Amino acid sequence: MKGLLLRQGGLAEKAESLGAHFDRPGDYLELGEIPTPKPGPGQVLIKMRRATINPSDIAFVKGIYGQPRIEGKPAGFEGVGVVVDAGPGLFGKFLKGRDVGFYATPDGSGTWAEYAVTQAMLALPLKKGLADRDAAGLIVNPVTAVAMLDMVKPGTAFVFSAAASQLGKLMAGLAKDQGKRMIALVRREAPVAMLKDLGAAYVLNESDADYKTDLAKVLEKEKPVIFLDAVAGHRSAQTHNMMGDRARWVIYGRLDDSPAEILDPGAMIFQRKVVEGFWTTDWAAKTSFVQKMRVFGEVQNRFRDGRWKTDVSAELPLNQAIERLPQALAQPDGKVQIVMHDG
Ligand SMILES: NC(=O)c1ccc[n+]([C@@H]2O[C@H](COP(=O)([O-])OP(=O)(O)OC[C@H]3O[C@@H](n4cnc5c(N)ncnc54)[C@H](OP(=O)(O)O)[C@@H]3O)[C@@H](O)[C@H]2O)c1
Repeated sequence: MKGLLLRQGGLAEKAESLGAHFDRPGDYLELGEIPTPKPGPGQVLIKMRRATINPSDIAFVKGIYGQPRIEGKPAGFEGVGVVVDAGPGLFGKFLKGRDVGFYATPDGSGTWAEYAVTQAMLALPLKKGLADRDAAGLIVNPVTAVAMLDMVKPGTAFVFSAAASQLGKLMAGLAKDQGKRMIALVRREAPVAMLKDLGAAYVLNESDADYKTDLAKVLEKEKPVIFLDAVAGHRSAQTHNMMGDRARWVIYGRLDDSPAEILDPGAMIFQRKVVEGFWTTDWAAKTSFVQKMRVFGEVQNRFRDGRWKTDVSAELPLNQAIERLPQALAQPDGKVQIVMHDG
């Protein structure tokens, strides 16, 4: 089978931003031919139709994600396709012939290829009417939105950075439906109206002259204690510094390279402020099977009935992906997806 294969193994030595800048994909990936993988016990083999590219994929390919690379294996964490084979195990056999949205587990192989292997438990049989563009990104961002929003108490507000992201768009509607007021931070004017339409209570543009005053007013009025932050640079440090007592700075991404310093260590003591991390992988490990199924069901329903949608900015055929990736990823407002020959 053909796939975009990792040219390097292990982790990179230098820590850098986890953003989606990807100027030289050819340094990290090559289009190659490898034998189609075989599913082991509890695993399924999926014939790929489409794969989504997330910031975590780019970070992984560069060797700066919390999981070592395996040289020669295809990259890519999520996608959609049809189960064509299964190893020993009842659930895998049940999935045979079904369309699934799935996450590629480290013991399997990546989704930027014609076929991928993963644990059957992380392949979700698709409900009728779900579009492939939504199903290709069914897990990473949607599940993160649901899991992180659980930290926010109903009736309260929370701060959310990089809000024009796919995750931010999902979060805006979900928060509104749960009676939680999203204070969305963006860095451009274009997404402001869109996020308000989706359900954000406030949208503040960091490049506005009055941004800091406006943010201070909103923080004073709403008194949010949760800051869900994918940027984690100097501006995030300032935001947390402006928040009140017990403010929790929850870092779940690192899109900015500038230092995310603690500006007032005394506030960690006397205002009981906290800095912590969030990783959906940890959430999945500690959440019960029943609860996960509930979340997966809710995620599919939201896409099916149109409360959520996936904006796609570019669709790249597998064999053109390496050369077209830098330009495609530089486009704002939407996901880049890799499509297979019959996808
Ligand atoms: N910890 C976890 O388990 C977990 C799970 C899922 C996602 N994530 C993280 O969530 C974040 C969003 O993911 P996504 O797939 O929704 O992203 P996405 O759709 O690819 O969008 C990325 C967004 O980041 C913004 N951005 C990039 N660099 C920035 C910077 N230096 N300062 C401020 N904003 C910046 C972009 O703003 P513009 O629109 O203005 O270009 C864009 O809106 C990523 O950091 C990802 O790694 C973490």
